[in-house]
Amino acid sequence: MRSHYCGDVNETLDGKTVTIAGWMHRRRDHGGVIFIDLRDREGLVQVVCNPEDAESFATAESVRSEYVLQIEGEVRLRPAGSDNPDLNSGKIEIVAKKLEILNSSETPPFPLTEQAEVSEDVRLRHRYIDLRRPEMLQKLRFRSQITRQLRSFLDDNGFLDIETPILTKATPEGARDYLVPSRTHAGDFFALPQSPQLFKQLLMVSGMDRYYQIVRCFRDEDLRADRQPEFTQVDIETSFVEEEELMAMMEDMIRGLFANVLEQQLPNPFPRMTYAEAMARFGSDKPDLRIDLELIEISDLMKGVDFKVFSGPANDDKGRVAALRVPGGTSLSRKNIDEYTKYVGIYGAKGLAYIKVNDLAAGREGLQSPILKFLPDDVVEAIMKRTEAETGDLVFFGADKANIVNEALGALRVKVGHDLGMVKHGWQPLWVVAFPMFEWDERNDRWTALHHPFTAPRESDIELLATDPGKCLSRAYDMVLNGTELGGGSMRIHKVDIQRKVFELLGISKEEADDKFGFLLEALKFGCPPHGGLAFGLDRLAMLMTGSSSIRDVMAFPKTQSASCLLTDAPSAVSELQLKELNIRLRKVPTIVDGAETE
Ligand code: AMO
Ligand code: AMP
Repeated sequence: MRSHYCGDVNETLDGKTVTIAGWMHRRRDHGGVIFIDLRDREGLVQVVCNPEDAESFATAESVRSEYVLQIEGEVRLRPAGSDNPDLNSGKIEIVAKKLEILNSSETPPFPLTEQAEVSEDVRLRHRYIDLRRPEMLQKLRFRSQITRQLRSFLDDNGFLDIETPILTKATPEGARDYLVPSRTHAGDFFALPQSPQLFKQLLMVSGMDRYYQIVRCFRDEDLRADRQPEFTQVDIETSFVEEEELMAMMEDMIRGLFANVLEQQLPNPFPRMTYAEAMARFGSDKPDLRIDLELIEISDLMKGVDFKVFSGPANDDKGRVAALRVPGGTSLSRKNIDEYTKYVGIYGAKGLAYIKVNDLAAGREGLQSPILKFLPDDVVEAIMKRTEAETGDLVFFGADKANIVNEALGALRVKVGHDLGMVKHGWQPLWVVAFPMFEWDERNDRWTALHHPFTAPRESDIELLATDPGKCLSRAYDMVLNGTELGGGSMRIHKVDIQRKVFELLGISKEEADDKFGFLLEALKFGCPPHGGLAFGLDRLAMLMTGSSSIRDVMAFPKTQSASCLLTDAPSAVSELQLKELNIRLRKVPTIVDGAETE
């Protein structure tokens, strides 16, 4: 139907006849001549319709925005002075000889000709139109380049692309499962995979040696800008490879991607940091190293002060008192500080103490703070020294359980860094390593796996499984880029007795382990090789590389924050017959009246 893409017609075709097809982007009537900008995937081209050609002129008069047209015409150079340097086709125009309307269009719900402010809901409801915008098209095209590049690296390195089931059994990655009722097994359910974790391990038992899959995963969890209920992993597993070799190969892959697709050089090797150091210095296991602010431990200085808010956590082995020095922070107003206090409240912080250093040389007199009165001179002096505060700085303080201080000050450091323009340009990749195997879940009084229950403990720490699980470190690693967890993985447990021991520690009984993971435990008995791997979040990678603020912008058909699809209206009710076939009877959805459930 066409000889060229609109955006590809240029001066090299001067004098030639071409056929193009696309959408009517803009029409201008100029003293008897009609100009049509026709748009397709590759760009725009200007078409001129002269009244001498009565038939096509009449058709041109009737076309409206987003009509689908096929146009045959002759390419000619634009008259001097009317070039458009923004377009690839900006030096030429096409003089229409034949113009056919392939389809009409209703007025689109938002204009595509200008940068109109359109709500995301409207964009998502009419996503097929939203995706016509060059910006969105560009992002999807870029995403396709990423997958092509990654596939080519993995193919070249001997990885086999193998598909794993979507209708399967629960695969624990810490979220709720999406369940699918079985018609043929009344009362039973499939779970959609949270990741292909167990299947890729089984493929190693099978001897596939190197596996990858660009695969959809499903997690029913609270959504955020970088989380969707279904998302895509670049999932990888290898046998007979240890972490150093695997991490080096994955770095090569990501470095190659950035070099080829963005022409950006990432460091070689990527820096590494232990989990413990990341938490101590940045309050986060995915620190954004573009921001120079750091948490500074001051628990030891606060043990003896009268201020209980500080001395309490300082003397509690699960507590922490930390400072965050903000260079030039005296410029923050009372209102700013109140807002930050509210912000850390989201993370459970009960307050946000601070000291403004108006004049360091003036000692106490030069400091301004609601907590100064609680702190003796030597402690104040020690804080100034430890934080290396200078005149003009502000020091924030957090005191609470260590996890609350870490989350609150960790998030504050990022927010302040952005607010005060302290985020450096460029890419800061990082491996975080030496994660603990387990975290103590206070609320449920039990250990939980920091990664997943198939992660191997360090060889040297295996005895700690029996004696001090909290101290046992794992063979897991996360790749972090500019404060986003891009990917993560580990060397796996390949011995059945250790896998059983880990299940036991996680409070999974033998019966439950056999019921849920019997197939894995069984497979581990049949010559399972040492193996390990990792998975990258493809959407997050595309989000970062395109400079988007949400992964929704790099997905063709994303879901909303409440996990629904505005375009198709999914999820939606199903017929009585379908429910009956599935042996499902719906309970009345309870409505809450004054805090109480009613039928
Ligand atoms: P993990 O749970 O860390 O590991 O997931 C790997 C990567 O997937 C991305 N990701 C998400 N992206 C968008 N929306 C989500 N809801 C979401 N959840 C995770 C992240 C994350 O780093 N089986 C293991 C990997 C392994 O051990 O090999 C796993 O799934 O970028
Ligand atoms: P208060 O004595 O509760 O008024 O607190 C004095 C100062 O300490 C205020 O600036 C509070 O914001 C701050 N503050 C209170 N609790 C904490 C906490 N857990 N961590 C850090 N600062 C706090």
